[in-house]
Amino acid sequence: MENFIYYTPTKVVFGRGGADQTGELLKQAGAAKVLIHYGGQSAVKSGLIDRTKAALDKAGVAHVELGGVVPNPRLSKVREGIALCKEAGVDFILAVGGGSVIDSSKAIAYGLRDPDRDVWELYQGLRRASSCLPVAAVLTIAAAGSEMSNSCVITNEQTGEKRAYNDDISRPRFTVMDPELTMTLPDYQTQSGCADIMMHTMERYFTSAEHPMELTDTMAEALLRTVMKYAEVLHQDPKNYEARAEVMWAGSLSHNGLTGCGTDGGDWATHMLEHELGGMFDVTHGAGLAAIWSSWARYVYRDCLPRFVKYAVNVMGVAPGASDEETALKGIAAMEDFYRRIAMPTNLRELGIAPTEEQILHMARSCARAAGGSKGSARVLHEEDMAAIYRMAL
Ligand code: NZQ
Ligand code: ZN
Repeated sequence: MENFIYYTPTKVVFGRGGADQTGELLKQAGAAKVLIHYGGQSAVKSGLIDRTKAALDKAGVAHVELGGVVPNPRLSKVREGIALCKEAGVDFILAVGGGSVIDSSKAIAYGLRDPDRDVWELYQGLRRASSCLPVAAVLTIAAAGSEMSNSCVITNEQTGEKRAYNDDISRPRFTVMDPELTMTLPDYQTQSGCADIMMHTMERYFTSAEHPMELTDTMAEALLRTVMKYAEVLHQDPKNYEARAEVMWAGSLSHNGLTGCGTDGGDWATHMLEHELGGMFDVTHGAGLAAIWSSWARYVYRDCLPRFVKYAVNVMGVAPGASDEETALKGIAAMEDFYRRIAMPTNLRELGIAPTEEQILHMARSCARAAGGSKGSARVLHEEDMAAIYRMAL
């Protein structure tokens, strides 16, 4: 095993009715004036925003609100949030929504602590944040894992760049996870969420590390099998509480660091390739990952053969073939079959986009630049490899 630091300071309040405890939780966390930050429609329509406000009022916690966060959250909304919070004297941000709302909240929280600097500099890699206002979440979709992660992904709509900034200081203080809140999700969002959850563990699993990691691998494989099982249940039965609960808990454990303990940090090339698609075409993140993954896998599997074989047998349940190569390829094909069963795309055409050669070259250049030249552990990818994978995925 590699050395590691495992840091998960987020208190998890899991189960039915958790949203009604939000006021008390904020009071315990020392919040005096809270920004309730949310998305487009869903949390207003379901009554969750009213419920949240009532919980804060009951606990005597003052609040202001800002809605309108869109998927692939925009820098302009972050700037609007920073200005509003400065004016209102906000000292705590409560995200009510999914990864986009939580990430927008984290970015506002960074911006408020360094009000004289442009917050986008963090995402450009020009500096590190000095600190961050406290953030908490009421989660409405199991997907990004931002409710426990140190990550925050923002899109600069002026440049078309979607960039991540990772820092432990932004990990939420607490997160309320009530599986019932996810029952209003359209199937496409539920399944995109499942694809993203799996990918957060797969990114950590496909490494070139040669050290044995039995416990971490076993947890990773169990998580992946669990999400596959319940993604299919939810495809048929979206109101199934147990399935919602399993997927929600998996979503947090998949991206809080647990399934990466002892690895070399993971691969993360599929995520970086997808972020370019998100920045240019505004696609749904999890669906974008599904659309690119098998092309990435077929491009790199020979360089990471033992892990692909292990994945095929232990996760996809395929019978070993005549050679390791055959087993690995059977595992990749089985993963594509799974994506098809939950109506996820397996290529860019099915995702609904058709990048031109010029756009492919632009994305590959931008991806390589954002990665500092190259990315990957299963296989180190350079700009020309990234372009080749986009072409394979057409
Ligand atoms: O805006 P509303 O109306 O709420 O609609 C949202 C949105 O359209 C809807 N939705 C959410 N909860 C719902 C619901 N609709 C009905 N009922 C509910 N209960 O779902 C849509 C997607 O929401 P979003 O927050 O965008 O989803 P997700 O959690 O997948 O977040 C995606 C963003 O997170 C980033 C992605 O790149 C993307 O920008 N990521 C963040 C990470 C992190 N911070 O750790 C890691 C991930 O790898 C990822 O990159
Ligand atoms: Zn993701």
